[in-house]
Amino acid sequence: MEVIICPDAEAVARTAADLFATYITRDTCTLGLATGSTPVATYKELIRRYEAGELSFKNHQAFLLDEYVGLDRDHEQSYYRTIRRELTSHIDIDDNRVHSPNGMSENPSEAGRAYDDAIKEAGGIDLQLLGIGTDGHIGFNEPGSSLVSRTRLKTLHPQTIKDNARFFGSPEDVPIHVLTQGLGTISEARHLLLLATGEGKAQAIADTVEGPVAAVCPASILQLHPHATVIVDEAAASKLKLARYYRYAYDNKPEWQQIQKA
Ligand code: GLP
Repeated sequence: MEVIICPDAEAVARTAADLFATYITRDTCTLGLATGSTPVATYKELIRRYEAGELSFKNHQAFLLDEYVGLDRDHEQSYYRTIRRELTSHIDIDDNRVHSPNGMSENPSEAGRAYDDAIKEAGGIDLQLLGIGTDGHIGFNEPGSSLVSRTRLKTLHPQTIKDNARFFGSPEDVPIHVLTQGLGTISEARHLLLLATGEGKAQAIADTVEGPVAAVCPASILQLHPHATVIVDEAAASKLKLARYYRYAYDNKPEWQQIQKA
């Protein structure tokens, strides 16, 4: 995997947007979108470039990673609403082509299968954006998740509920169950892009990049992916043993491989 260490969160967002742009400028592409606070700055940068006429999403489609079970689509904190608020309502993507798992389905297993089928029918995901939980989860694949799992129902770890309580009134208001793309589903995207900022993510990033591939750190599956990019700020990179080498490798990348540097 490629690790890009940026001076700060703003540079992370610009570098991630540069990478996104290489897909968005294609005739058509399928984007995998993530929620959480980390991607918000990248989304703002993409919106800015759209407004400046540099990017158009008109021919593209998107799939979300996950959704809370039992939250109506129109609930303020549903991921369906969140991605519209943070990104898709501000750009020219067709709203009907922004998909999310159906958290209101009476049959979550069936809803999970249907979601995987929809991704397949769309031709798979070209670029999948990922944030990371403090416990190393991606999507909502908590530690212990099968490394080959498909989209399915998961029970949130109490730490994740605590972390996400800031978006709700209190921890009691955070749904306990979610539908999430599985680690196997995520691995099928052709390019994975993981973003992390802040010291709180430093251990999870060290485990992801330099720890063993293990269910205890679900994001470690990136090590098995043929095309994975990790963009972090200095704080999130602070526990990486090989940080100097990653910087050296990035600075000496052959020109043909370079995305524009932020
Ligand atoms: C939630 C989402 C994840 C996200 C994580 C971290 O659990 N399901 O996709 O990566 O939060 O969020 P944040 O970026 O706010 O730290």
